[in-house]
Parts: sequence; C-alpha cells; structure tokens
Amino acid sequence: MDRLAAGPGRARTPPPWRELGGKAYFRLPLSPFEMTITDTALSARLRQETKAAHTRAERRGIMRAFLTGQLPAESYIALLANLHAVYSALEAGLTAQAAHPHVAPLYDPALHRVAALEADLTLLAGADWATRYRPTGAAQAYAARITELARTAPLGLVAHAYTRYLGDLSGGQILKRMVAPILKRTDGAGTAFYDFPGIPDPDGFKQRWRAALDALPLSAGEADFVVAEALGAFDANGAVFEALA
Ligand code: HEM
Repeated sequence: MDRLAAGPGRARTPPPWRELGGKAYFRLPLSPFEMTITDTALSARLRQETKAAHTRAERRGIMRAFLTGQLPAESYIALLANLHAVYSALEAGLTAQAAHPHVAPLYDPALHRVAALEADLTLLAGADWATRYRPTGAAQAYAARITELARTAPLGLVAHAYTRYLGDLSGGQILKRMVAPILKRTDGAGTAFYDFPGIPDPDGFKQRWRAALDALPLSAGEADFVVAEALGAFDANGAVFEALA
C-alpha cells in the first residue's frame, strides 16, 4: 500500500507532488504563483516600483538642462540651496530618530550632505547665500513632509534616505561631471556635494545598505508604506526641479 495513503485514523498528508497532464511534478515549497508581492525584498521592490518615477524625475524642470550642462550657474546654486532645506530636515530627522529600530540599522553620518552643501554654497555664493537663495515652496513642502515623518512615522525617513542618498551615490556621480561646465570652472571646486569621503566604495556601501534595509522586520503594510513614501519623494524632487525652471 502507498506509504502516504491515508489509513484509518491517519491524517491525510498531501503528496509532495501534483499531477498535471498525467505527469507528476514535485512541489517547490512556494511556487511562483503562490508568491505575493510581500515576498520580494524591499530593496528590489523600491528599485522596480520607483523605476518609472525615476525616469519622470530625470526629465522634470531643470534636470534636462542639468544633464546637458546647459543649466545657468545661478539655477545650479538655487538647486543646492533648495537641497539644503531638504537635507537639513532629513538629517535632523534621522539624527533625532537614530536609535529608532527602523532607522538605527540604516543610520550613517557618512551619508550626510548638509556640511558639503554649505561648503559649496559658501564657495559659490558667499557666506550670506542663505539670505539670497530662499528655498522654493516645493522644497519647503518636501522638507515639511520629512519633518512630519520624523515626528509621526520615522520609518518614512528610510524612504527619503533611499531616494536621495542612493541616488547621490549612483546617478549623482554622473551629474557631478556636468557641474564644471555649468559653473564654468576647471578647478573642480564647488562639487563637495557629490563627494563622500567616508564612503570609499559606493557600490559596496549600497549593497550593505540594501541588505540592512531588507533585514528590517517590517509587516507587509509597513513595506508598502516605504514604497509609497519613496514614490512621493521622487515626485517631491520633481516638483523642486520644476519650481526652479
Ligand atoms: C538626470 C538625472 C539622473 C540620472 C542621470 C540618474 C542616473 C542613475 C543611475 C545610472 C543609477 C544607477 C542605476 C543602477 O544601479 O542600475 C541611478 C540610481 C538611482 N537614482 Fe538616479 N539619476 C538621476 C536622477 C535621480 C533623481 C532626481 C533621483 C531622486 C531624487 C534619483 C534617485 C536614484 C536612486 C534612489 C537610485 C538607486 C536605485 C536602486 O538601486 O534602488 N536619481 N540613477
């Protein structure tokens, strides 16, 4: 008799295969059809689900001119001042919540950009840059959203850190090459924003950061929240690029 056949008083155990078209197929622990979106690592979801938003942000407002080196230097300085408002909110929020279990594994001051932005702005626009380059309404709204998250939902800061810092470590390095023609300088000055002296191996760093992200013990709803917040972050960046055009 079949070893697995249910006898009297024996629980019916499903066989580890199923028959399809007269053939027996062994069941994998989880077939692709049974997988849900929550089985995908968060870093992979972020990459896939923000792809279209990334393409849109790349094309909004001043970004096209930036990528072709046609951006007026004044607009580039204004962009830095707007980013200063955003990173100030992000880094204040991350630092205030550095011990939070959703933030701690991803917290690394080597990523922080405020000091580099201030160095570039002081060099390019003078010590009084902040009085001459006010953040746009779009940058203020973006910064306000980050500050609100720091207070009410620190997990959302992770989405904003992903959108800005992983972008700076990736495409930011392409954009850096356009800064010299925009500023019409050959000495390489004014590009501290793109330099991460504390991160000598950006690719290795990004891999470790993604692994730490994937190790966060998140519910399906929390993972969805991070993806939704990252989509909002891409849109907030696009709104700043448009406000500066
Ligand atoms: C025209 C401007 C841009 C260019 C040329 C650019 C280019 C790139 C490139 C080449 C990558 C690496 C893709 C890969 O590893 O396969 C990347 C990744 C990334 N970019 Fe951009 N990018 C631009 C604008 C932006 C903007 C505006 C944001 C958001 C503020 C952004 C956020 C990101 C993020 C978060 C990643 C990491 C994706 C991941 O590995 O999960 N990028 N970008």
